[in-house]
Amino acid sequence: PERVNSEGWDLTHAPTLADISKGRSPFQTAEWTAAPVLSSWPENSRRRLQDPILITNPAKPGDTVGQVQNASSEDTTAAIDNAALWAADVKTRAAILNAAADAYEAHAHELFAILTREAGKCMPDAIAELREAVDFLRYYAARANADHRARGIWTCISPWNFPLAIFTGQIAAALAAGNAVIAKPAEQTPLIATRAVALLHQAGVPASALQLLPGGGAVGASLTADSRINGVAFTGSTATALKIRASMAVHCVPGTPLIAETGGLNAMIVDSTALPEHAVRDIINGAFRSAGQRCSALRCLYVQEDIADNLLIMLKGAMDELHVGDPWHLSTDVGPVIDQQAHNGIADHIETTRNKGRIIHQIAAPAAGHFIRPTAIRVSGIEEMTKEIFGPVLHVATFKASALDDVITSINATGYGLTFGLHTRIDDRVQTIVEKVQAGNIYVNRDQIGAVVGSQPFGGEGLSGTGPKAGGPHYLPRFTAQPAPQTDC
Ligand code: NAD
Ligand code: ALA
Repeated sequence: PERVNSEGWDLTHAPTLADISKGRSPFQTAEWTAAPVLSSWPENSRRRLQDPILITNPAKPGDTVGQVQNASSEDTTAAIDNAALWAADVKTRAAILNAAADAYEAHAHELFAILTREAGKCMPDAIAELREAVDFLRYYAARANADHRARGIWTCISPWNFPLAIFTGQIAAALAAGNAVIAKPAEQTPLIATRAVALLHQAGVPASALQLLPGGGAVGASLTADSRINGVAFTGSTATALKIRASMAVHCVPGTPLIAETGGLNAMIVDSTALPEHAVRDIINGAFRSAGQRCSALRCLYVQEDIADNLLIMLKGAMDELHVGDPWHLSTDVGPVIDQQAHNGIADHIETTRNKGRIIHQIAAPAAGHFIRPTAIRVSGIEEMTKEIFGPVLHVATFKASALDDVITSINATGYGLTFGLHTRIDDRVQTIVEKVQAGNIYVNRDQIGAVVGSQPFGGEGLSGTGPKAGGPHYLPRFTAQPAPQTDC
């Protein structure tokens, strides 16, 4: 193995996962920088940062992970002025995207470290996220073909909760079709985005075909209000998607596409025939893995009342086994939430329900860092939940067998439609419920998170997204001048 990688990191003793967990990774104390990456400034990565903002570890606010200089309005204008379609033929583009996938894999330990320290990802989530990012690169490279005509300049706006996978997926699809991309990562996670863009450029993506503008909502808003943009791929909250749609309606050429993948109020139904051990395993995974910070996460569990007492005893026992703490440690199940603002919103929600005597169970979490105590809360039904609580909080309702149809009506009435889970051993019931529930991704007798690129295209309907589903056959064609069919598998 090389002793020093291309950025100068000493890899003499490339860390194993066990080393990382014990704090023996050279990346555990490293710091990174992020700044606009503009084609008009190729030496940008070495540019001195003016007025940088510190990025700190959500698990340990005293741990500085790096610094970011956000894009100015001049940077935004320069990025649009200098964006150019990727002129290489489709074979070359696919080869370069595959080379970028190789580069991501070669830098796995560094990327794990940034995902863990910048985004608070637990190690299994960091590993799964890198896998998903690599899958997106290889999948869209494989699906690109010579009939795809580039549409123009795409703005790709991504969230902090999948700061490598979703960030990469949007870009990879747009680039595979030969477009120019201006990427705007979430303000909480510019460091991983900057490393990803550097690896894409090193693999051969031209600087003018991929530029990066770190910054917050204002940078995103200025990009979606420029008439020279030919498409916007957005993943984030429903509220932001609605703002982007309104802005594009005023500023962009009519017909400019918006692909929006947004939030959810996701439910699971567990009936009295379900295998309780399997159901509890999948409830724990769906509600608490990634500290509940997945759009796909289980928010509202409906348990048939005949088995509710027993299932809740098992659920509390399983919650007690969760270890909340430093995401570096391989034994940690639940890490921090992303920042103080997220922490305060979730904690307020829990305290409001505590005052109403609704807490079913709550486990311990460290006091320092942005940790939330994983909590189960009793609700009468999903209609009580007016917004997505983006953290490790499970809402639990019970239902009578005779009220199953009403439960489904309530789930559909939220207007969201992202994921849905069902635990039952009645085959006919699977068929009936799957036909009635309005959700993009429906999972039976398993958890409802972790869709796999290429085999489980992911995306919602209603308030949860416009489609086409990411990681599916219709996604890449939407980035081209010839729109794809509207139906997804
Ligand atoms: P967010 O909407 O606050 O921010 C998402 C991105 O939009 C960020 O880059 C942000 O800077 C940018 N932004 C904010 N205001 C903007 C504006 N006016 N114009 C343009 N861009 C703007 O979401 P978040 O908190 O980063 O992410 C969490 C949300 O994302 C949750 O609601 C989650 O359900 C959703 N999400 C959905 C999916 C999916 O595939 N459906 C996947 C991951 C996350
Ligand atoms: N694609 C991610 C999941 O399925 C959001 O959990």
